[in-house]
Amino acid sequence: HRPFIVAIDGPAGAGKSTASRQLAARLGFAMVDTGAIYRTVALAATLRGIALDDDAGLGQLLPLLAIRFAPSGQPGGGQRVLLGEEDVSVEIRTPPMSLGASKVSARPVVRAGLLELQRRLALAAENRGAVLEGRDIGTVVFPDADAKFFLVATPEERARRRHAELLAKGDGSTFEEVLADQLKRDRQDSEREIAPLRPAEDAVVVDTSGTPLEAVVDALAREVRARQ
Ligand code: C5P
Repeated sequence: HRPFIVAIDGPAGAGKSTASRQLAARLGFAMVDTGAIYRTVALAATLRGIALDDDAGLGQLLPLLAIRFAPSGQPGGGQRVLLGEEDVSVEIRTPPMSLGASKVSARPVVRAGLLELQRRLALAAENRGAVLEGRDIGTVVFPDADAKFFLVATPEERARRRHAELLAKGDGSTFEEVLADQLKRDRQDSEREIAPLRPAEDAVVVDTSGTPLEAVVDALAREVRARQ
């Protein structure tokens, strides 16, 4: 009997991260941020001078990487991302690593190489269940997830949120740059041949534009409880 699996997919900036974190906290579930895993692969490749489209290089790199999550210890939860013993939580969140993650994630060798890790992290959860956040959780990683959501929001709203996050971190990107990066990333993610960004047939599509986060989490939690 496996843990209850909640899949949360959608484009960048649709509110997946915050909603997933809060939903997991509310339900007492583990949380697996799969985008962080792709970001960490992009970072590791960059540090070793491996081109982000070098399938042979990426294929050799993957088995060497020990990617783990650890509790942040901060009030309100959150996770640190560890590469080996090194905390890379901050480095993986820069705009170049966003685009880098999108590039490596289009390589079949990378997607295949990360499937087991994502499933293992979710199933190893001693919690009653796991919330996985990404682009293809409901379609590929856990096609038999117990609850599937696809979060969407207007491009402007999504860029506004990302821009505010980056500003808070001291990143000087302009709103226009964030919007352009995001549209590029969405296009790459939606048009790739393998596991393109799209809602699973049985996903509940939730538009988060102009909706307070709390109300989004309420709606997700209600839907999960109805299926438990
Ligand atoms: O969610 P986040 O913005 O951190 O994801 C970074 C990139 O990783 C995405 O733009 C996407 O290309 C890739 N990704 C993916 N499949 C997932 C999660 C992320 O392809 N399940």
